[in-house]
Amino acid sequence: MKIVITAGPTREHIDPVRFISNRSTGKMGFAIAASAIAHGHQVTLIAGPVSLATPEGALRIDVISALDMLDAVRCELPSADVLIMSAAVADWRPKEASTTKLKKSTMAPTIELLPNPDILLTLKPSKENRLFVGFAAETGDPLAEAKRKLTAKGLDMMVANDVSRPDAGFAVDTNLVTLLYPNAPAEHLPLLDKRQVADEIITRIEKLHNELNIMISSSSSRNPCNASNLTARLS
Ligand code: PMT
Repeated sequence: MKIVITAGPTREHIDPVRFISNRSTGKMGFAIAASAIAHGHQVTLIAGPVSLATPEGALRIDVISALDMLDAVRCELPSADVLIMSAAVADWRPKEASTTKLKKSTMAPTIELLPNPDILLTLKPSKENRLFVGFAAETGDPLAEAKRKLTAKGLDMMVANDVSRPDAGFAVDTNLVTLLYPNAPAEHLPLLDKRQVADEIITRIEKLHNELNIMISSSSSRNPCNASNLTARLS
């Protein structure tokens, strides 16, 4: 399979030195990329700003903002069998991003925000026979909210992690996840290293792919998207 994986945070710039972002380090997404490669799949890893080495064998596309990430996923999707959105995409961006550093003495004390497009929802009409896998980073009642997002975003699998735990979710090496499906019982995995979680996810995706009998894309059908237009932009 060709698997497109997003990882890490996005940054939504206020000016060249300030941004809105979140605590994602990319560890979960990079572990999935390494696992998918070990399982013999072709991997495109679309990474927000993280400081992790590229798993050997992955094609990596670096992006900054949610709009950049949407462009990159849209570009890679036509040749993909599976999209795994493990990135923590910022939901909002400043309405205006200054190209010069704002001065504390003159900048407004409030920032007007615009909603970012939801990447999974935006690309839902192009899903066709592809598998779409999402992640849900939740506190409170993780499963109820994850189930709601699974349905709303039309996903084949949702990985729910309870990010209120110190040993799960953002920035740690372990994760505690529940796998949710549209028409099958939830699977609760024990606390595992992120690489072990990744192996479990890739195994489930292989099973789903076989069940759906989706044609495996040949690598020659890849859409040679030009990554040069995916560089950081401030607005
Ligand atoms: O990177 P690490 O430090 O290892 O941390 C891993 C993680 C906690 C970031 C990861 O396990 C995780 O939970 N990622 C998803 C976090 C998140 O943004 O969840 P959400 O509930 O806001 O979004 C639900 C799904 O929609 C996600 O698949 C997300 O990628 C996607 N989404 C969200 C916003 C948006 N604008 N477009 C999207 O496609």
